[in-house]
Amino acid sequence: MLHAENVSLETIAREVGTPTYVYSAASIRSQYEALSGAMAAALPADRQPLICYACKANSALAVLTLLKNLGSAIETVSEGELRRALKAGFSPDNIVCEGVGKSAAEIKLGLEAGIHQFNIESLGELALINQIAQSLGKTATVVFRLNPDVAGGGVEKISTGQKHNKFGLSFDLVMAGYEQAKTMNHVEAVGIFTHVGSQVWQTETFEILFKRLAEATTQLRAAGHTVSRIDIGGGFPIQYKDEKLLDLNAYARWVRDIILPLDVEIVLEPGRYLVGNAGVLLSEVLYEKESHGRNFLILDAGMNDLIRPALYEAYHGIEPIANRSTPEKTYDVAGPICETSDMFATDRSLPTMSAGDLLVFKSAGAYGYVMSSNYNTHSLPAEVLVDGDNYTVITPRQDIEELIARDVIPDWLHD
Ligand code: LLP
Repeated sequence: MLHAENVSLETIAREVGTPTYVYSAASIRSQYEALSGAMAAALPADRQPLICYACKANSALAVLTLLKNLGSAIETVSEGELRRALKAGFSPDNIVCEGVGKSAAEIKLGLEAGIHQFNIESLGELALINQIAQSLGKTATVVFRLNPDVAGGGVEKISTGQKHNKFGLSFDLVMAGYEQAKTMNHVEAVGIFTHVGSQVWQTETFEILFKRLAEATTQLRAAGHTVSRIDIGGGFPIQYKDEKLLDLNAYARWVRDIILPLDVEIVLEPGRYLVGNAGVLLSEVLYEKESHGRNFLILDAGMNDLIRPALYEAYHGIEPIANRSTPEKTYDVAGPICETSDMFATDRSLPTMSAGDLLVFKSAGAYGYVMSSNYNTHSLPAEVLVDGDNYTVITPRQDIEELIARDVIPDWLHD
């Protein structure tokens, strides 16, 4: 019987229902400690990076609070995430606001709170921040997102640092941004930022990237600009199947050898690494059917709950929570959604399963619940956090009637 820490997943399924995301607090803690430990081993005590958890990966308030208690700072990419960060009690000093399309409301909220930095994605955004800061009588601290034209990441769809990607600014535009910031009274440009993608396991990618950042820093300083902070982004990989993992110690050494001598404050933005392997999606088999010689398992979880396989052809391990020794059978594993792409796996070898059996999708702690939707008017799943012998429903299952009650039928449609 599969457990999350000391709690049986069957108990959670019985008491909370399915589909449900289940996270292990111990696993999140140990990931945070592995990353901060690698940095502590490589960098002097007074030059430790600000580790800003990229909460797009999993923004449950309980998860944010857990990470905050471990000493983590946070990166947000929307007004909603910023509101979550503030609600979880992160000190504004520990909040970094990123996002390629920041809204005026988000900028205002960030300025009023006094956040650590805005990561600038366009010169229009720089001007808007200056204007809003002026109206509030504040000064915004900004870093420019450099698009270094470096490929990074497991797959093209989650690579962000190449020149055809929408993210960041070419070096010339970063330089232009610094020039413009000099003429503005309500922004202070202090550095640069880059994030080239997710699931980056090649240490060499970071080496290339850090050298680009060092080069950019030298050029900006030669032009008389201040570079006192560098945000080196996230992208640390986790294992879904048999992917290679980044050697964190080698990574930390590149930070030490290339970034540290630049004498800047260092910021990191890890997301998936901290929470990805800490979570599973628990689901029940609704039906098993054989058709045209294929064995289908139809689950109560669908692409609306976990979209990564449909969207990126991403692999998630699937494991029944009990009877794992029964003979193997080859299955196509699908959700209940009326859409061909609602398939989690094809030709997956699993122990024989039948209706009523429970299974988990592994490594679903990052980019799982946060990307779920109401497609086919399914309610959003529940989220549970386990710690040792205890568990708590940290997000109750959405109520379907409440969801439908949000709709408005115009008077003029009534007979
Ligand atoms: N910082 C920025 C600016 C980012 O855009 C991202 C991720 C991160 C940090 C955190 O990256 P991580 O450490 O988690 O790799 N939904 C996709 C992943 C999209 C990532 C977007 N940006 C997936 O399910 O694989």
